[in-house]
Amino acid sequence: MHSSKPRLLTGDRPTGKLHLGHYVGSLANRVRLQHQYESFFIIADLHTLTTRPERAHIGQIPLFIREIVLDYLAVGIDPEISTIFVQSAIPETYELNLLFEMLVTVPRLERLPSLKDMARDANLETMPFGLLGYPVLQAVDILLPRAQAVPVGKDNQAHVELAREMARRFNNLYGEVFPEPEEIVGDVPTLIGTDGKNKMSKSLGNAIFLSDDAATVELKVKGMYTDPKRLRATDPGTVEGNPVFDYHEAFNPDKDEVAELKERYRAGKVGDVEVKAKLTRALNNFLEPIREKRAYYIAHPTLPQDVLANGIRRMQAEAKETMEIVRAHTGLSYSLDLFVDDIDIFGNE
Ligand code: TRP
Repeated sequence: MHSSKPRLLTGDRPTGKLHLGHYVGSLANRVRLQHQYESFFIIADLHTLTTRPERAHIGQIPLFIREIVLDYLAVGIDPEISTIFVQSAIPETYELNLLFEMLVTVPRLERLPSLKDMARDANLETMPFGLLGYPVLQAVDILLPRAQAVPVGKDNQAHVELAREMARRFNNLYGEVFPEPEEIVGDVPTLIGTDGKNKMSKSLGNAIFLSDDAATVELKVKGMYTDPKRLRATDPGTVEGNPVFDYHEAFNPDKDEVAELKERYRAGKVGDVEVKAKLTRALNNFLEPIREKRAYYIAHPTLPQDVLANGIRRMQAEAKETMEIVRAHTGLSYSLDLFVDDIDIFGNE
């Protein structure tokens, strides 16, 4: 199980099904990277509590965890080589989080624009303590398995930088324990939503989900935003910034067909109906094997169940090992046994 490859950790908050934007922006990359890195994929349920701590929300988390595990497996994250686990199932997370809280200042956290954005998106007028600690908890996720590499989007780069600072600070205070993790940003593109306005997002209703069936994909593509200035198929159209062509670019493997459609579109020699029909076909060809794999796991529920159980077991072992090292370095290694068997702090001998 232990390998000599460098370690990677990344993951998602369980807030819903994953969509094409997730695929282009991170999942495709993860499927590739899992062969070069010993990979840990965290389903960060505790992070969702930073804006939604209510019991009703916590009650929904298992459903979202289920969807994410199915999506991970369906796109090709391989549980034989990678570890998928749930954050809250690792008790050491809470323990290391407290120690890490001592290693960062409030102004340092207040400078992160991502936190203000999250507070605003959640309609919070003032910053909860836990939300300010969001990137601290993320540093814990990264450093608990002592990961060196963290593939993230631009929005999370500053958080990895902070994790690096915290590793450095910890090591300065207590001795070399943690590696300084590096982000892997790469050329991960952002996928525009079907509305052509915002990046694809579940909450904006502009997403095509990995689990959408063929008819749903067809309907969503039919409703897609295209060139608004083009009223008839004979009007010359604009390809640049046109989401229909962005998707062709990303998901249609027939490059000749895409080039030919673009040419005819610019010349006013093809209708949106044909361009969209071809996109629907390309998307459904792309999604069909993903759907099949998903359906297989849904039909054999003990498989995803075991994937998660094994992943949690594996991560628990890693966390235990890391915390033993942490306790030895910080000197915070009290246990009841110590006081029962050989009390020495009171000079009893
Ligand atoms: N912050 C990530 C997000 O935007 C989720 C996450 C939690 C994460 N812990 C992580 C990502 C550790 C990378 C590494 O949803």
